[in-house]
Amino acid sequence: MSGCSLAGRHVVISAGPTYEDLDPVRFLGNRSSGKMGFAIAAAAAARGARVSLIAGPVTLPTPAAGTGSLHRIDVRSAAQMHAAVIGALPADVYIGAAAVADYTPARVAEEKIKKGSGSEGLTLQLVRTRDILAELAGHPRRPELVVGFAAETEDVERYARGKLAAKRLDLIAANRVGVAGSGFESDDNALVIYGADLALPLGPASKHELAGQLLDLICQRLSVAATGTGSAR
Ligand code: PMT
Repeated sequence: MSGCSLAGRHVVISAGPTYEDLDPVRFLGNRSSGKMGFAIAAAAAARGARVSLIAGPVTLPTPAAGTGSLHRIDVRSAAQMHAAVIGALPADVYIGAAAVADYTPARVAEEKIKKGSGSEGLTLQLVRTRDILAELAGHPRRPELVVGFAAETEDVERYARGKLAAKRLDLIAANRVGVAGSGFESDDNALVIYGADLALPLGPASKHELAGQLLDLICQRLSVAATGTGSAR
């Protein structure tokens, strides 16, 4: 794979789902396969970056290190992903392709939760997880570029631009989920990259092609920052 050079850059990428345990046998998860994030990791390593790939529970093989290097850290929960991402700093770029749980059970039962004897339902108490992306964007060691993803089923641009602003991101890659041929699990996707001054449609194409195109855009933004007024870092 060719493309711009990311040699000398540290790129941290999150990928896959998180699993939030309810008890020793059950968890709350989601449909992310990790394909999008792993494709970005492969493309960044092929461009010479030092890649830290923080992976939720997925069945994918570790991408090749290309001309750079690739260190994979496997995690399970949103809390573990948060710790691994923060632990990977400092970085030049963070790309949050993982589908991180927004809520986790308030407590994990030590023993398997048993069915009640009657027909009553089961109420779970959930608490908010920490927003890794928003925290990184406001972190004292903020990466030069913080790039989020937005997985939406409707009103994609409005919700994506809302997250771009609320989480103080440089870019956000919006994709539609819940339809065939894009989003979760599929080998293909279609993205629109939003920035304060940008709305760039990419695809439909394979997640590998899209990863390369996204990284080319990131390279351009990094070079502008590196040759700018010196206030970028
Ligand atoms: O893994 P695949 O099967 O290939 O599917 C790819 C994908 C659909 C998972 C991917 O393209 C994608 O959209 N990833 C983001 C999914 C998501 O959680 O979107 P969101 O709109 O709920 O979250 C917005 C952003 O905040 C994301 O960058 C997410 O990583 C981040 N986030 C969310 C919650 C949280 N607690 N911490 C976060 O960092």
